[in-house]
Amino acid sequence: MENLQVEFREGARLKALIVGSGGREHAIAWQMAQSPNVSQIFCIPGNGGTATLPKCRNVSLFVDDLDGIQRFAGVQGVGLTVVGPEVPLAMGIVDNFQAEGLPIFGPTKAGAQIESSKSWAKSLMRLAKIPTAASQAFTDPAVAKDYVKQQGAPIVIKADGLASGKGVTVAMTLEEAQIAIDRCFSGQFGAAGETVLIEEYLEGQELSVLAITDGQTIRPLLPAQDHKRLGDGDTGPNTGGMGAYAPAPLGTPELMEKIQTAVLEPAIAALQKQGIDYRGCLYAGLMITPTGEPKVIEFNCRFGDPETQAILPLLESPLDELMLACVERRLHEIPPVAWKSGASVCVVMAADGYPEKSRTGEFITGIGKAEEAGALVFHAGTKLQNNSLVTSGGRVLGVTATGDTLKDAIARVYEAVSHIDGGDLIYRRDIGWRATLT
Ligand code: AMP
Ligand code: GLY
Repeated sequence: MENLQVEFREGARLKALIVGSGGREHAIAWQMAQSPNVSQIFCIPGNGGTATLPKCRNVSLFVDDLDGIQRFAGVQGVGLTVVGPEVPLAMGIVDNFQAEGLPIFGPTKAGAQIESSKSWAKSLMRLAKIPTAASQAFTDPAVAKDYVKQQGAPIVIKADGLASGKGVTVAMTLEEAQIAIDRCFSGQFGAAGETVLIEEYLEGQELSVLAITDGQTIRPLLPAQDHKRLGDGDTGPNTGGMGAYAPAPLGTPELMEKIQTAVLEPAIAALQKQGIDYRGCLYAGLMITPTGEPKVIEFNCRFGDPETQAILPLLESPLDELMLACVERRLHEIPPVAWKSGASVCVVMAADGYPEKSRTGEFITGIGKAEEAGALVFHAGTKLQNNSLVTSGGRVLGVTATGDTLKDAIARVYEAVSHIDGGDLIYRRDIGWRATLT
């Protein structure tokens, strides 16, 4: 087993490395840069926002270049590596780092199966008696279609493996369900679609609970709510997430207690039983049923995007200390996670055409004014080109504001958004509104 103590801390000066290029990684880097313990932050590959963040330096390596990243961390004496996206986790980046005694926050390849194989996650939930939608796995399209006919619609069809958030169809009719089954088996999702999961349709409100764990103790962050559909009023296609807010009032203390004892603790215990030492973030995507019961829709093996951009601005505890406590298996020894009061809202501004085809290369202006209006602007699909900031991806910015109340935060964030221009950026006008009505 690797040495759990961080050997690479130079006194109280920690070099951190963040793997990924999205808004989530910018938010992690921004939060970590506030810590007096942290001397330098490398982002692989980072984005236009991390390029100019104090203490930060972008390093041009690919997130799936596991050998390159590990070599870089070793040579630089990085004392804490944090992995944003699921792909390097599912490839085993943590196993490689641990074999070399390099401190890293994230689960091993075996632990990452909780996201990389939905059928594996379902078996784990069954084992741990975690409430979730009833489901069955299929490898034959004809048998899957027969099953759907028996069950009727609405019904949910999921490619088993990682499909960049595109592998789930909530089918309201049998015809839609059959099309979705054919799509999964068509090879569009590669090996991820060779097994298809057919799942009971759950009604209710969604809640994202991101929890940090050292493999034994698990502590939730503030509950958040994502907005997955592209259009206002939850209409249009599913996206990576168009905005989020925290804390979501839906996550009352009573409900959070239930989630802790019925979902998070059993999940960690079941992982342990499988011999999996899960240290990192466990993300529970939950449906809260009309009777107030939490049911797991999915687990992710990483922080959520854009939930992280909404949650981290409210964090009071130094992020590096929380993460190192997880890596060093001493989360139970440190004080509870401390939060600022108030609320936080993140509005994602995406390129015209997202999520299908996004136009890139547009100049972005107005970020300074948005910041003057009190917002934090987390970058995702941006890059610096000849000292100008241009769009380079689907989700471009995550504009975030905090306030004493959710209504204050919403007013502040939309005022900030109004200052930003980037070639017909699209965004939802209703992030957080649902929670202000209850
Ligand atoms: P996922 O990509 O697994 O996050 O799923 C995308 C979205 O599909 C979720 O955020 C839910 O809105 C919806 N969804 C997934 N599973 C179910 C289910 N069993 N019942 C209802 N909606 C679901
Ligand atoms: N916000 C959804 C996700 O990170 O998977």
